[in-house]
Amino acid sequence: MKKEKKSENNEQMEKIVAFCKRKGFVFPTCEIYGGFANAYSYGPYGAELKNNIKKLWWKHFVQEREDMVGMDGPILLNPRLWEASGHTEGFNDAMVDCKKCKKRYRADHIVKELTGEDMEGDLAGMTAALQGGLKCPECGASDWTEARNMSQMFKTEMNSFDGPVYLRPETAGAIFVDYKNVIDSMRVKVPFGIAQIGKAFRNEIVARNFIFRIREFEQMEIEYFINPEMAWEDLFEEWLQRQEAFALAIGAKKEDLRRYEHPKAKLSHYSRRTVDLEYNFPFGFNELFGLAHRGDFDLNAHSQATGVKLDYFDATANRRYVPHVIEPTVGLDRLILTAICAAYNEEVVEDETRVVMKFPYAIAPIKIAIFPLLKNKPELVVKAKEVYDMLKSEYMCEFDDNGNIGKRYRRQDEIGTPFCVTVDFDTLEKDDTVTVRDRDTMEQSRIKISDLKNFFSEKF
Ligand code: GAP
Repeated sequence: MKKEKKSENNEQMEKIVAFCKRKGFVFPTCEIYGGFANAYSYGPYGAELKNNIKKLWWKHFVQEREDMVGMDGPILLNPRLWEASGHTEGFNDAMVDCKKCKKRYRADHIVKELTGEDMEGDLAGMTAALQGGLKCPECGASDWTEARNMSQMFKTEMNSFDGPVYLRPETAGAIFVDYKNVIDSMRVKVPFGIAQIGKAFRNEIVARNFIFRIREFEQMEIEYFINPEMAWEDLFEEWLQRQEAFALAIGAKKEDLRRYEHPKAKLSHYSRRTVDLEYNFPFGFNELFGLAHRGDFDLNAHSQATGVKLDYFDATANRRYVPHVIEPTVGLDRLILTAICAAYNEEVVEDETRVVMKFPYAIAPIKIAIFPLLKNKPELVVKAKEVYDMLKSEYMCEFDDNGNIGKRYRRQDEIGTPFCVTVDFDTLEKDDTVTVRDRDTMEQSRIKISDLKNFFSEKF
């Protein structure tokens, strides 16, 4: 029964991957060269979806809040930062190889898959478990190397710098090193947060599950600075709820979200609490967001490494302290995958299956599609172009005159366009109205062209 469920889920994932390629959301990259490293490109609709999710996140977490500011730091940072944060030394994953078929695995993942046990960090334990008779899922042999650590840091060089530099493995580092500049240049008062969206790079042993685990990805991270003496528990809960609310806003269903509380014994020495918000992807519940109380570990580490004081004078409390930090973080690519999995619907309409992507309006790649009823009637085409020109400065629109109207509706349903507008003969000959068709209800209404802008501003 468990096996059946798994293959059903794989089928769902395969369907989604094929759909994303066919409809211009996500393509395997460098396909004409045979692909590269399980990496992906966002196609035209995927790029729109990605931008919309970024904009929505920035609106939720920066624009609408008085206690948040944004920043945008570089990918290549002074490597001393990564020494101080512990990444150079300790940002490792364990890998193991099957000696027979040479397949490489992340050791903790393969042990968990085969035994259900979470042995992350325990190299000896994982080696013993694997060499104790566990079979390679690829070839069935039980002939394993020892589990060993591999750095997840991507190294590169810079002409003007001696020694290796790194592609940042997380965006958070850039926030900590600019924390003092933000305090000195802005009128921020603790508690406040700094948000950043940007690329991060991890030399993952195995990139897998489509865009869920990739080597070059985007993070949306916040460092929220608080008074070390404040009762942080309620604030922590509030951030958990905000993350959940954001997942719902991009279309996730409540029942597909769950919290994973990191056991106290496994927390880093500086963390008071860490909770992952997991989403029920077709391959099972997996981490979408993370939320960690990191204490003053990062600011102290950078202060010690540089000799620069990173404390803060709290005028209300009339004292100096190094703030503690609560860190809400999420991978943008995982949010995109969540939005796609949550939106994907197959419905039977008049004996035909329609795929409809039920994206929330705010993240739909195309908001309105505009059609002339017939492409060989210039007067219809000219009028439809006028409507398109009127709406495109405010909304991402698409003009489509290809095929019959039914087919055009299906095409727009498949990419999740909330509304289609059709210019027909009544528009020209009667009352200057157009048909507006709703993606979800499939209902159609007649609206005057002069009322369209108001209609859509209410809808969006
Ligand atoms: N600064 C804390 C930090 O980086 P993390 O849990 O390692 O924490 C944060 O990463 C988020 O980044 C994760 O919750 C996940 O959504 C995303 N993420 C991590 N590794 C990823 C990968 N290889 N591919 C895609 N997203 C990833």
